Amino acid sequence: MPNIERNILITGGAGFIGSHLVRLFVRRYPNYRIVNLDALTYAGNLDNLSDVASQSNYLFRKGDITDVAFLEAIFKEFDIDSVIHLAAESHVDRSISDPMAFVRTNVMGTANLLQTATKYWRNTQNNLFYHISTDEVYGSLGKTGLFTEKTAYDPNSPYAASKAASDHFVRAYAQTYDLPVVISNCSNNYGPNQFPEKLIPLFINNIKENEELPLYGDGQYTRDWLYVLDHVEAIDTVFHQGKLGETYNIGGFNEWKNIDLVRVLCQLMEEKLQRPKGSAEALICFVKDRPGHDRRYAIDANKIKKELGWEPRVTFEEGLSKTIDWYLANAAWLENVVSGAYKNYYKKQYLT
Ligand code: NAD
Ligand code: DAU
Repeated sequence: MPNIERNILITGGAGFIGSHLVRLFVRRYPNYRIVNLDALTYAGNLDNLSDVASQSNYLFRKGDITDVAFLEAIFKEFDIDSVIHLAAESHVDRSISDPMAFVRTNVMGTANLLQTATKYWRNTQNNLFYHISTDEVYGSLGKTGLFTEKTAYDPNSPYAASKAASDHFVRAYAQTYDLPVVISNCSNNYGPNQFPEKLIPLFINNIKENEELPLYGDGQYTRDWLYVLDHVEAIDTVFHQGKLGETYNIGGFNEWKNIDLVRVLCQLMEEKLQRPKGSAEALICFVKDRPGHDRRYAIDANKIKKELGWEPRVTFEEGLSKTIDWYLANAAWLENVVSGAYKNYYKKQYLT
C-alpha cells in the first residue's frame, strides 16, 4: 500500500469491541496500516471482520500476547509505531471460575506488550501505547456518585483486579521509561458481535429460544450502558487527540438497574417476535448471586466531553433495537459461537 502514515497494532481485533474498532480504522484511515493481532480464543471470531478482510491496509496475525518472541517479530515486521491494546479475557464470571487465565493474558500479556514497545521504540518518534480499560477498576458505587478519573482503584473481581494491574503497569512504564501512553476506562458496552455470555446478548438469545433469564441476586444491580459504535468513536478521539499520560473515562450517561433493562428488552423482543405481552418477562428467574458482585457502576464522562468533544450519539432505545435486530438477523453467527462445550458452560453454571 502506498503512503503509509502509521503502522498501528490493534490487539484483540477479532473480539467484540476490537472488531468494530478495526473496521472503523481500516475504512476511515486508508493510509494507516492496521495489523490485527488476536489469539482467536473462544471470544475471537474472524467472521466479525469478513467485510474488511481483503482491504489493502488490513492484516491479520494469529498469536498470543504472552509470547514475547512473537510480539517482537510483529513489531519488527511491520515497524509498529502505535498500539491500541484490547486483547483480554473480558468476562467477570469466567474470572471467578478461572482467575489465572486473567492474570496470564491481562497482566502478563499487557506487561509483555509494554516491554516490547519500550524496547522497540527507544529511538523512534510519534509513538503511542493506548490501553483500553474498564470502569470495573474503580470497584462499586453506592446509591449516588459517579466514577471520575480521580476515583481511587478498588477492584473486586479477579477480572477487575487484572485490569487494574495492567493499568498500573501502563502508568509505571510511562513514569519509569517515558513510554508515551494513554488509558481510557469505559462502562458496559452492548451491540452486534458481543459474545452471548454477557447480559444483553445472552438474554436476547434466551428469549428467542424461550429459555429462562437468570438474573443474579435481587436484579437491582446497576450498570451504565454504551453502544459499541459510540465507544469506538471515543477510542478514535482519544487516539488522535488524547494528551499523553492522561486517563479518560468513557460512559453512556445511561444507568439502568438490571431488572428494568431486562423488562424493556423483554417488551421489545415480544413486539419484534410478535409474541403475547408478558410472555418474555415470564422467563425471568432470580438465581444465586455472582460472588463479589459490584452494586453500581456509573461514569462521569465529562472530561472527554469537555476536553476532546466526544459524547455518545446513539440513544439506548435505538441501540437496543438495532442490537436485537442484528442478533435476530444473524442466527448463524449466534449458533456458531454458542455451539459445543460453551453451551454447557453457560447453561449450567448459575442455573442451580
Ligand atoms: P472480547 O472478549 O469480546 O474480545 C477479546 C479478544 O481478545 C478476543 O478476540 C480474544 O481472542 C482476544 N484475546 C484473548 N486473549 C488473548 C491473548 N492472550 N492474546 C491475544 N489475543 C487474545 O472482549 P471485548 O468485550 O471486546 O473487550 C475488549 C477490551 O475492552 C478488553 O480489554 C476489555 O477489558 C475492555 N472493555 C470491555 C468492555 C465491555 O463492556 N465489553 C467495557 C470496557 C472495557
Ligand atoms: O463495566 C465494564 C465491564 O462490563 C467490562 O469491563 C466487562 O468486560 C464486561 O463484561 C462488563 O462486565 P459486567 O460484569 O458488568 O457485564 P455482564 O454482562 O457480565 O453483566 C452485567 C450485569 O448483569 C451484572 O450486574 C451481572 C448481571 N448478570 C449478568 C449475566 C451474564 C445477570 O444478572 N445475569 C447474567 O446471566
